[in-house]
Amino acid sequence: MRRSPYKICLKKQIDVAKFTSDIITQQLSKNKNSVLGLATGSTPEQTYRELVKRHLPHQKDWSHVRTINLDEYVGLDKNNPQSYHYYMHFHLFNHVGLPECNTFLPDGTSSDPISEGQAYEQRIIDLGGIDLWLIGIGSNGHIAFNEPGSSRDSRTRLVNLSDQTIIDNSRFFEKKTTVPTQAITVGIATIMEAKRIILIATGKKKSKAIYAALKGPVGPDCPASFLREHPNCTFVVDEAAAILCRNNFV
Ligand code: GLP
Repeated sequence: MRRSPYKICLKKQIDVAKFTSDIITQQLSKNKNSVLGLATGSTPEQTYRELVKRHLPHQKDWSHVRTINLDEYVGLDKNNPQSYHYYMHFHLFNHVGLPECNTFLPDGTSSDPISEGQAYEQRIIDLGGIDLWLIGIGSNGHIAFNEPGSSRDSRTRLVNLSDQTIIDNSRFFEKKTTVPTQAITVGIATIMEAKRIILIATGKKKSKAIYAALKGPVGPDCPASFLREHPNCTFVVDEAAAILCRNNFV
């Protein structure tokens, strides 16, 4: 048995999506009351499409599933099409019969981000912890919105986005100046407490971050590198994302 992080390289983005949605579907079959941690961004979109496809023929029961998301932009309310609330409803929640009351994201409009962060951490504890957390990776190695420099002990909090992240995420906004500069994100310690973590990455633009996460030093320069210390973490990437360290993958 290989040691965590398990590293799986598949040919294309669609293969990553199918593989990942199979893992999530298996998790729901094992425990229909699962607590899933979820991510946003363009990478998981195809995984969510695959999950919706699998839900339809078998009517996989999501009614007892609870979800916790990684992060939310500060200043965007839930009806804003660029908000992560909106994204999750659009790509997943509305299509699998997940009751609204079972879905949780940080409130980016909170006037008290410190209390919001503490309440979010407590929410995760009250739910019994995260069974499986699906996460992506930023081109600078961030996970959720834990930018380079984030501490291993970090918890849900208000953060400033790096210039790189603002540039990367500007493709979702009309112009760069309208990208929020802050977010509320779970911390690295919050993510590391999940029982299982699946990190997905596709495309050459993620290859440097994947290399740094797997081959660089474990530390805050590349927040995703901390995942190497998790006992049950799997990196699922396509060939383009693995290009700088292909030999490390099965
Ligand atoms: C955002 C999210 C991250 C995500 C990253 C990569 O910054 N906060 O959770 O991993 O984007 O997104 P993409 O998949 O669009 O490259």
